[in-house]
Amino acid sequence: MRVDGLVREFDRRRVLDGVRLDIRAGEFVALLGRSGCGKSTLLRVLAGLDREIEGEVLVPRRRAVAFQAPRLMPWKRVWRNVVLGLPGRPERAVAERALTEVGLDHRADAWPKTLSGGEAQRASLARALVRDPDLLLLDEPFGALDALTRITAQRLVAEVWRERGCAVLLVTHDVEEALLLADRVLVMADGRIAHETAVELPRPRDVGDPRWTALRAQLLGRLGVAEADGGAESGMDSGRDGGAGARRTPDGRGADR
Ligand SMILES: Nc1ncnc2c1ncn2[C@@H]1O[C@H](COP(=O)(O)OP(=O)(O)O)[C@@H](O)[C@H]1O
Ligand SMILES: [Mg+2]
Repeated sequence: MRVDGLVREFDRRRVLDGVRLDIRAGEFVALLGRSGCGKSTLLRVLAGLDREIEGEVLVPRRRAVAFQAPRLMPWKRVWRNVVLGLPGRPERAVAERALTEVGLDHRADAWPKTLSGGEAQRASLARALVRDPDLLLLDEPFGALDALTRITAQRLVAEVWRERGCAVLLVTHDVEEALLLADRVLVMADGRIAHETAVELPRPRDVGDPRWTALRAQLLGRLGVAEADGGAESGMDSGRDGGAGARRTPDGRGADR
């Protein structure tokens, strides 16, 4: 996937201001950024839902998106929601395969309103997977889940990615979630990708690894969030910092020196 010089304006306000972004086949990329910085706008463009843009956007034809709100049609059973919008008359078995992949096959005949938050999010993921995407776009898919359900859902996405080998672009506002899942973490600011960090830690990721702590501090700094424990900044591997921006946080405290 390749994006270059992508511009999107709303009422002449530039929300995307020359975004450049490449994602390799099979790569897992997380996109962080403050609320309102344009993450969802970018994802909608990549999903083909917004074409009022300038710039180059090359995306795989087979791509699928799942949003924070599962957006299930309440008058259709779960399995019908999963195949909704697929060309032709897809069979139930197609939906069931995707539902099995997300551990929800036993709820195929349920009505959406009877699902828990985590189940609804699984159904939404199944609806994306049934499209057999080369690029899976996820817009804060765990944002509305409680902490425990969220952990399960994160593991599920990691597993799906490992099994399928598709590229994933995950929008999140959670630094730890990004570090848990991604090969590469991007930070969006001022309408473009302002910073990127490769996460060269073995999987499953160990939150006790000092490199984890260093990366976390670095990314929080990039987001303009100072850590409560200022000591976490030491041991930072700034050589791995591929960022294009100034080495200073918005609050001027310089989390990565
Ligand atoms: N359809 C729209 N019309 C006008 N403004 C919009 C529209 N969609 C998004 N925006 C604005 O663009 C900015 C970025 O929004 P969004 O991409 O949703 O941010 P994020 O997902 O990073 O929180 C926000 O200021 C938002 O109000
Ligand atoms: Mg958003």
